[in-house]
Amino acid sequence: MNRDIRRFAAMDALTAAALDAVREAAREAMTQRGRFVVALSGGSSPLALYAAMAREGYGAPFDATHFFFGDERLVPVADRRNTFGTVAPILFTPTPVPVGNIRPMPVEIRPAELAAETYEAEIRETLGAGPGEIPRFDLILLGMGPDGHTASLFPGSPALEETRRLVAAVPAPTTVEPHVPRLTFTLPLLNAAHRVLFLAAAKGKEQALERALGDAPDPDTPASLVRPQGALTWLVATG
Ligand code: 6PG
Repeated sequence: MNRDIRRFAAMDALTAAALDAVREAAREAMTQRGRFVVALSGGSSPLALYAAMAREGYGAPFDATHFFFGDERLVPVADRRNTFGTVAPILFTPTPVPVGNIRPMPVEIRPAELAAETYEAEIRETLGAGPGEIPRFDLILLGMGPDGHTASLFPGSPALEETRRLVAAVPAPTTVEPHVPRLTFTLPLLNAAHRVLFLAAAKGKEQALERALGDAPDPDTPASLVRPQGALTWLVATG
């Protein structure tokens, strides 16, 4: 696994480095695959990055980029806890991304398992992966919570054992807010990516970070189980 860990005194320096990392991934994807298929993260840490991507561009044409989401809260888009609803006005409204390239998780579909299957099918179709194949995103953005969760893979969650499905429905977490059910990428999909980029503010997450950045994967720290085939970068703001 080639892993790169970089620490920054402040979030704005981290955001600048994150934009560079996204541009590098976008250029590689455009050169090697002719388009850029990226999965966005929820949480507060990447919001400044999304604003910078909209303002300054990110190394791939908007119409050659497909924007997926690595997880989502199963609440309506209009609900302030919905990640797509938070990201859209920052990254999509100000930019000419074709509507067909914007791929939120289908929070309106029930039961949640059917929503997960539906999104998996959309990923497979977009990335051209047949049954049994694990599609490879060009870039997956992730954060980490104080409990060591990433995407919506929480400590002790059965979804961590998933070896076949790419997207899972998970019940409302008890360890972090918001306490609402979720949809999430599973480890097989995360670990197949060409590049994974973690953005984390260290404050209040020091112990989880230590476990996540340890050499050995820690089954109680889901973020530490993300060890992709491709490149893994951790950008950590210590200030
Ligand atoms: C979510 C996220 C989650 C997030 C972490 C970190 O939907 O909540 O996908 O995994 O990345 O909780 O969140 P912060 O960046 O706000 O610390």
